[in-house]
Amino acid sequence: MATGHITRDDQALDKELAGLLSVESFEPSEEFRAHATLNDPAIYEEADRDWQGWWASQAEKLDWFTPWNQVLDDSNPPFYKWFLGGKLNVSYNCVDRHVLAGNGARVAYHWRGEEGEERDITYADLHRDVQKFANALKDLGIQKGDVIGIYAGMIPETVVSMLACSRIGAVHNVVFGGFSAESVRERMEFSEAKALITVDGAARKGKTAAVKQSVDEVMGDLETLKNIIVIQAKGTECEMKDGRDVWFHEICEAAADECPAEPMDAEDPLFVLYTSGSTAKPKGILHTTGGYLTGASTTHRYVFDVKPESDVYWCCADVGWITGHTYIVYGPLSNGVTSVMYEGAPDYPHRGIWWELVERYKATIFYTAPTAIRACVKWGTEHPDKFDLTSLRLLGTVGEPINPKAWLWYHKVIGGERCPIVDTWWQTETGAIMITPLPGITATKPGSATQAFPGIKVEVVDERDGKPIDEGQGLLVITRPWPSMLRTLYKDDERFVEVYWKKFGKQTYLVGDAARKDKDGYYWVIGRIDDVVNVSGHRLSTAEVESAIVACESVAEAAVIGQSDEDTGQAITAFVTLQGTTAGTDEAEALIRAGVAERIGKFARPKRIIFADDLPKTRSGKIMRRLLRDIAEGRALGDVTTLRDPTVMAALEKQIQSEQAKEE
Ligand code: PRX
Repeated sequence: MATGHITRDDQALDKELAGLLSVESFEPSEEFRAHATLNDPAIYEEADRDWQGWWASQAEKLDWFTPWNQVLDDSNPPFYKWFLGGKLNVSYNCVDRHVLAGNGARVAYHWRGEEGEERDITYADLHRDVQKFANALKDLGIQKGDVIGIYAGMIPETVVSMLACSRIGAVHNVVFGGFSAESVRERMEFSEAKALITVDGAARKGKTAAVKQSVDEVMGDLETLKNIIVIQAKGTECEMKDGRDVWFHEICEAAADECPAEPMDAEDPLFVLYTSGSTAKPKGILHTTGGYLTGASTTHRYVFDVKPESDVYWCCADVGWITGHTYIVYGPLSNGVTSVMYEGAPDYPHRGIWWELVERYKATIFYTAPTAIRACVKWGTEHPDKFDLTSLRLLGTVGEPINPKAWLWYHKVIGGERCPIVDTWWQTETGAIMITPLPGITATKPGSATQAFPGIKVEVVDERDGKPIDEGQGLLVITRPWPSMLRTLYKDDERFVEVYWKKFGKQTYLVGDAARKDKDGYYWVIGRIDDVVNVSGHRLSTAEVESAIVACESVAEAAVIGQSDEDTGQAITAFVTLQGTTAGTDEAEALIRAGVAERIGKFARPKRIIFADDLPKTRSGKIMRRLLRDIAEGRALGDVTTLRDPTVMAALEKQIQSEQAKEE
């Protein structure tokens, strides 16, 4: 099995990494630079000088049925439009053109199931399956513009479903498999989905979750939802409702083989993806066809320096998040690359499974989240050390700031000190990577996402007046439109303007993150400035979790904050008051956690629950989260004079002390 087996003493390694903390920056090796697609820093200036021209030259790398007649329409900000008049099809660009170019036999995905099942899916396979399923959707009466939900997990049929939607102009709305059925229902309702594609069952660390059954329990009353299409993934028993439910394989079998790709307008919607904002209602981020694919394809090509003939690329995100959309599906497929797609968790069936798969598929590029790297650091080097990782040539991270120690571990233990690391900053809203090193050009600094991607303009500005800050901390903004930007919030233009474009005007996109710019002009993203918590790279709103807690029996009120956490970046702490004289028992805690799991998903469960008789409120009744943060983290309390009842804080302090005493 393993070659290159080295055992390192983790403690000695720790010391070594501590020593490396003083190294300020890491240059790409000469070897890497020499073979990189982009290795001349002049690209930044070139793209900057004529940024619309730069994006147009990238869009030209796609296949268009009709060329555009205007690159950017900025006549009605913030409703920007890209590649006006152009027509193209996303599934055609991701599949057909590679088959037509003679690359049909190339593997698109080495798929690996949780129990070791393997399927190699070629571009020709995708071509066949996508056309069949696209016809099956049409046979069900699905039309251009209809929204289709997808809640099917990390299986190839999810990708086939996304591509089939794009082939006929249906708009997909994928829901992450970790969300509860209740969340799926809510997203189907908000988007008025006509159909939902799901699975009979899904693998979860050795167990099988009865997905269709859970969906049935909540979906009954949704009138807009005409069909549920069930993929037979695990053979889990489920009921099929007459007239509504159909089997994926049966409708595919019955469908015609050929389905020409629908020419779509560049600005036709491609997908909606719900993400958390600062209220309890998730935001439906809307992405369109031409601009999104240009952003996905261009950033994937250059940030990961992909060579379609030789690379085996692996993005370990879940397809239900934006990272999965852009860097498991649309980026790699549009570039004709071979990817690895793994169904399971990083610690199932064992803690070295990722590294086993790197060795098995000879992965060359590996992209994951800091939270996963921190888990690997904890598990120890014995796991990666069992496998040969010498195929790797480039590493990436996304989702949250990476602490330098984890960066250095990744660099040394996984990258063997030869792989550049691209720390990529972006969001569901931006559609594609915005701040990142270019691996053949940029000297990286552990913890910094470095520079804006060519053609992108970001700034750190003063919170009060929006003026750019040359060096120091402020709010991160994007000051120029970019092709893969969100176009609106689904059916809510007003909220779109309000959330992103109100603070500094309609030309300045408010990111929602604080950031710092250093003396070399490098960006260091600090974290969210709104009520959004980032748990293991999963974005959650405090309001969303609060409303799930308040819906639990006996709960009167709840306030949720994010606390920094060694493992998950941030973790959720909930302050809860119960009704009447109900006591805060372990049982009450368990009920609250179960309630949150049911309403949102397990990943949203609070790590810490603090019961209180009352919460600190202003005279107008607003909960003061700032004070809750101070008290939870044991900091001196700030100004309490604006509180309606200042004694609340003393009571809370007592409560926390007794909680700590209980733990000890
Ligand atoms: O706070 C930033 C953080 O994740 C937020 C976006 O979350 P989401 O839309 O779920 O997309 C995550 C994956 C693209 C950002 O506002 N974030 C993302 N990448 C980084 C990051 N923070 C620091 N460094 C990053 N590389």
